[in-house]
Amino acid sequence: MDMPWGGIIQRYRRFLPITEETPIITLNEGDTPLLPAPALAERIELNISLYLKCEGFNPTGSFKDRGMTVAISKALEEGSQAVICASTGNTAASAAAYSARAKLKCMVLLPHGSIALGKLAQSITHGAKVVALKGNFDDAFRLVKEACSRHPITLVNSINPYRIEGQKSGAFEICDVLGDAPTYHAIPVGNAGNICAYWKGYCEYHEAGISRSRPRMLGFQAEGAAPIVRGEPVEAPETIATAIRIGNPASWKGAEAARDESGGLIQAVSDEEILEAYHMLASVEGVFVEPASAASVAGVRKLAGRGYFKDASEDASVVCILTGHGLKDPDLAISQAAEPSAVEPQIEVVEEFLGLCQPALV
Ligand code: F0G
Repeated sequence: MDMPWGGIIQRYRRFLPITEETPIITLNEGDTPLLPAPALAERIELNISLYLKCEGFNPTGSFKDRGMTVAISKALEEGSQAVICASTGNTAASAAAYSARAKLKCMVLLPHGSIALGKLAQSITHGAKVVALKGNFDDAFRLVKEACSRHPITLVNSINPYRIEGQKSGAFEICDVLGDAPTYHAIPVGNAGNICAYWKGYCEYHEAGISRSRPRMLGFQAEGAAPIVRGEPVEAPETIATAIRIGNPASWKGAEAARDESGGLIQAVSDEEILEAYHMLASVEGVFVEPASAASVAGVRKLAGRGYFKDASEDASVVCILTGHGLKDPDLAISQAAEPSAVEPQIEVVEEFLGLCQPALV
């Protein structure tokens, strides 16, 4: 029998800055499904193979766990007692969970009023010290950097290089499953760490001779929070995709490098386009994601509509990274439909509601 899955450090150790001394803190993250999505491809009139990398299947429900296992393990190795992050929610949830496991103190600064309910619930329940900041992510990020310059605490946002090291494992998994890199890689962009991490992963596998090619990186920001697309910071970013509601991304330069070195692009998608993709993923493929994740599919759909893939070869493929689980943001999901009304527990009433009133045609 193969060795049971033991997380991304165990699987990809030789590509990671892990030593004999590193205590490995893992929740067995990684090994997430890469789902073929032919029905969705047809629906969005995409002429190449579409795959969905379902990162919501990670232990805390987002891709952040890949980076957090390395960042928390290294923090522990370096003797840190406490970690801190600014977050739109998922980094905080992941930091809180891995810190609990490592018995490290965890502090998180979250923009008050724009954190999806599930993420807040996770941070609180894992025992992090939660500060709800009267400000946005960019304010929170500035403050945690300042806190780290004043106190001996470890920053676990994605400017911590160990986060990027861990997150690049997503690219390795995709290549391992497909046997090579995909032709295109579509990904939502917020603070822009993940697009850099994936590009690093693809480059390392290519240099090691494990994959023959590297993908074009296609990054997508929400229209109301698209500083890289606009070429300037956005003072008051706004989008229903709260995970990527960021006006001044930390890894701006790295994202541009990934885009340019790969011959890719970074474009914006509207909230409406994000929501359409969100509903399609759920109803056509059975995959429930949080809104930010749907930005990758919304972007591919938009590009397909403009003929971007029309000259792609027959065996071309695109992988969309679905960064977080739909259960993270139940409020958004419920707000999208009328809540079902309560009915009396009688068969006639239930039949009436379900439209089963006609006699069955046998
Ligand atoms: N998708 C989700 C679900 C996210 O939570 C994030 C980032 C992104 C996409 C964008 O990734 O920042 O590497 O470009 N969330 C961070 C957080 C900012 O605090 O949880 P990125």
